[in-house]
Amino acid sequence: MSNPTNQAAYLVDKNVKPLEVRTAPYTPPGPDEIVIRTHAIAINPVDHIIQNLGGMMYTHLPYPEAMLGFDVSGEVVQVGKEVTRFKPGDRVVGEAVGTAKNRNLASHCGFQLYTVLLPRMTSHIPDTLTYEKASVIPLGLSTAACGLFQKDHLALQHPSVPAPKPTGKTLLIWGGSTSVGCNAIQVAVAAGYEVITTCSPRNFEYVKSLGAVEVYDYNSKTVVKDITRAFKGRVTAGALSIGAGAADKCLDILAGCKGDKVLSMATYPTPATPPKRFVMVQTIVTYLSGLISLWIKARRYGVRSAYIFADSLVDNEVGPMIYEQWLPKALAAGTFVPAPKAEVVGHGLGYIQRAMDINRKGVSAKKIVVTL
Ligand SMILES: NC(=O)c1ccc[n+]([C@@H]2O[C@H](COP(=O)([O-])OP(=O)(O)OC[C@H]3O[C@@H](n4cnc5c(N)ncnc54)[C@H](OP(=O)(O)O)[C@@H]3O)[C@@H](O)[C@H]2O)c1
Repeated sequence: MSNPTNQAAYLVDKNVKPLEVRTAPYTPPGPDEIVIRTHAIAINPVDHIIQNLGGMMYTHLPYPEAMLGFDVSGEVVQVGKEVTRFKPGDRVVGEAVGTAKNRNLASHCGFQLYTVLLPRMTSHIPDTLTYEKASVIPLGLSTAACGLFQKDHLALQHPSVPAPKPTGKTLLIWGGSTSVGCNAIQVAVAAGYEVITTCSPRNFEYVKSLGAVEVYDYNSKTVVKDITRAFKGRVTAGALSIGAGAADKCLDILAGCKGDKVLSMATYPTPATPPKRFVMVQTIVTYLSGLISLWIKARRYGVRSAYIFADSLVDNEVGPMIYEQWLPKALAAGTFVPAPKAEVVGHGLGYIQRAMDINRKGVSAKKIVVTL
């Protein structure tokens, strides 16, 4: 049987240029890999951050054959000879990991019709779940899982279906309506933790529907005082900070809490507004000064802190724990819902650039999706 014809949206240059759609090679799976016909992809901020800052980060990408795309769902078309969990025809969602420095393979990126996935980063989805809804899951869930479960982060008890007995501990998730936050709330509750979170008031009911017990407006002047008061009489499991300025506020809250003084940080320090001049200098200065000042503050408050690098779960026990063991069961049981909501903005690879531009302008409790 001849290989199918593949097409991809390529990132052709380190300098900002629109993605280019053209024919791409079809790559058969390695022994422990699968290939899917991608039916939906979701956009993450990192996609357009790489496009905008390509000269500064992900410098290893093989321009002009570089590709982006982390969140994919689709149908399995071919499996490697060691694969036992999947067969052609299976409906799946998975994280495409081709941009990671230790892989750096366009064949394993998501912005194409046929993507190579690793079984340990892939889950079956129920027949009732559409590809577009499922596509919002991977990078948000992976990032949340790195922060919550890795031993060098919060090292929480693992999730199960049904959820275990409550641990009696409360977790602070700053940025609950982000894609990372929506996943973190659900997986933390599934692991037996109570969750207090923050977002804009328009999303209060939504994050509560995902399992948060209390929610606060992160723009309120009294938010740190209010959350510190909410933790009185509670034992904390630590905090996960998502969003600009979140880590600093979480440190102030953890300082006054009883329990585990651990902070996992998803968002790295970046300029509050994109610089118009001296972009590289301003970005590096903000980044380094942010890292140093948060490190000093954490030491002073006796808080252990670590930045998330979402690629890390691919090569440790957390990836398979989530994608092989927990997620397929939680989706089948309906104890986990894909979140935030998918907004489909077009059909075809040609719509991916537009989808990235929409995400770049800012979204609220939603994920921008393109169907293929
Ligand atoms: N370290 C890693 O490996 C890694 C991996 C993935 C993502 N991230 C980072 O994690 C963050 C979230 O990514 P995402 O894809 O989840 O984002 P997203 O869903 O695109 O973010 C949109 C949401 O951000 C919320 N928000 C905006 N400013 C905020 C602030 N200052 N504090 C808290 N929430 C704020 C908005 O909430 P409201 O509309 O309710 O105001 C909105 O719902 C980003 O900084 C991203 O770069 C890091």
